[in-house]
Amino acid sequence: MTPHLFDLNGKTALVTGAAQGLGLAMATGLAQAGAQVVLNDIQEVKLCAEVARIGAAGFRVHACPLDVSNSAQIQERVPAIEREVGPIDILVNNAGIHRRGPIEHLPETAWREVLDTNLSAAFLMAKQVVRGMIERRSGKIINICSVMSEVGRPTVAAYMASKGGLKMLTKAMAVEWAKHNIQVNGIGPGWMATEMNRPLMENPALDAWVRSRVPAGRYGDPADMVGIAIYLASSASNFVTGQVIYLDGGTLAAL
Ligand SMILES: NC(=O)c1ccc[n+]([C@@H]2O[C@H](COP(=O)([O-])OP(=O)(O)OC[C@H]3O[C@@H](n4cnc5c(N)ncnc54)[C@H](O)[C@@H]3O)[C@@H](O)[C@H]2O)c1
Repeated sequence: MTPHLFDLNGKTALVTGAAQGLGLAMATGLAQAGAQVVLNDIQEVKLCAEVARIGAAGFRVHACPLDVSNSAQIQERVPAIEREVGPIDILVNNAGIHRRGPIEHLPETAWREVLDTNLSAAFLMAKQVVRGMIERRSGKIINICSVMSEVGRPTVAAYMASKGGLKMLTKAMAVEWAKHNIQVNGIGPGWMATEMNRPLMENPALDAWVRSRVPAGRYGDPADMVGIAIYLASSASNFVTGQVIYLDGGTLAAL
């Protein structure tokens, strides 16, 4: 065990969609590993409350409210936060939404919202921060994919398309930017106990189905994300790029 391999002191991480759920858990974990963290979200009040809470625990933390699907906001506010806190060394593209419904009834607006937030935003955010990473010859980008990057269910077509696309965007970024010493990887969670899955958890039949489908017999806890996030953000993963690590209690291994 070489502890400094996982040490993030001196690094700055920006996590999108970090006012709650998986993003908040990863941002907190990266701070505990030594990073200065920038939390992004569109829920500004909740975001500022979490930033204050993490700051009160003694960590270096900042808020960067913006809509990650809005390229004008990204081009204005990401450089502004970098001027304030220093360059972003680690970008976690985590913000995501779900719009459920059969394909033949799914509104075009819902389709576009999901693709804009879950896929195009990762392109826009990475494009913004990578120029500095290229200059510094160092960077880590982590895209939050899903088991639905690989497999699906009825009524989640837009989400599946976005997460499948994000898996391939991860590989595209990895092959283009490896020569600049930038590693780009994905984390693919299974069913996690967050707001996003409240409709499942509150439906007894669906909830029982999920638990029976997952070999571990439970939803993932947001804290389960932290170890992989620190690994992919740290020098421990310096020759790992273009991979998606699935965190699913065995779901993808089982029929
Ligand atoms: N919960 C799961 O089971 C699960 C499984 C696989 C993948 N994921 C992915 O993990 C990520 C986090 O999910 P979660 O479960 O924590 O969901 P969540 O709904 O609890 O949190 C998502 C956060 O993203 C923010 N957000 C949404 N649109 C945004 C935008 N345009 N700009 C900035 N912030 C925005 C929301 O305000 C929210 O705080 C998502 O990408 C999701 O697709 C979740």
